[in-house]
Amino acid sequence: MAEQAASPTIPPMPPLTRREFLNYAWLGSLGFLFVVGFGGAAYLFAFPRVKDGAFGSLFLLGNAGSALPKPNDPPIHNPTGKFWLTNVNGAILALYDVCPHLGCLYDWQSNAGRFECPCHGSKFAKDGKAVGGPAPRNLDRIAISFVADNRILETTNGYGDPLVIPGEPNAQVVVDTRKIIPGEPR
Ligand code: FES
Repeated sequence: MAEQAASPTIPPMPPLTRREFLNYAWLGSLGFLFVVGFGGAAYLFAFPRVKDGAFGSLFLLGNAGSALPKPNDPPIHNPTGKFWLTNVNGAILALYDVCPHLGCLYDWQSNAGRFECPCHGSKFAKDGKAVGGPAPRNLDRIAISFVADNRILETTNGYGDPLVIPGEPNAQVVVDTRKIIPGEPR
């Protein structure tokens, strides 16, 4: 009769020292925090919580006939939405109100008839074109649409070109501050 091979004996694990136990516990909690943090960030990314009327959401400005500047009017600032509405020969642009140089807030200068940045002197025409100073590009634009009766009448193209105001008397203006279109480099 063949003898059964003796099964190898596994030496018992030495007990964890207090230092090893603390190291494992620390690593475990770090991993837990990573999973929770990563999952939370992914959740927030998938469902961005931007309330209406805050930058990063849609701004319903009302009737196009009353909410927009006329051709010879100065641009209208909306500080909450971070944009200027400007009328360029009868068409409308929404310009992001942050200077494309280093991020200061520029302002409209009525006397000069242009936007000027107080930080380093960049200057921009009424349509956002950079005309002086260190700004590397024209002002960034924000997408706008005209809507009526749950229909989109006109919407900004990929370049953010000025939108002609539609003839419909009940057209409403919507500025979509989720969509910023970088200005053209100089
Ligand atoms: S930040 Fe506007 S010119 Fe520098």
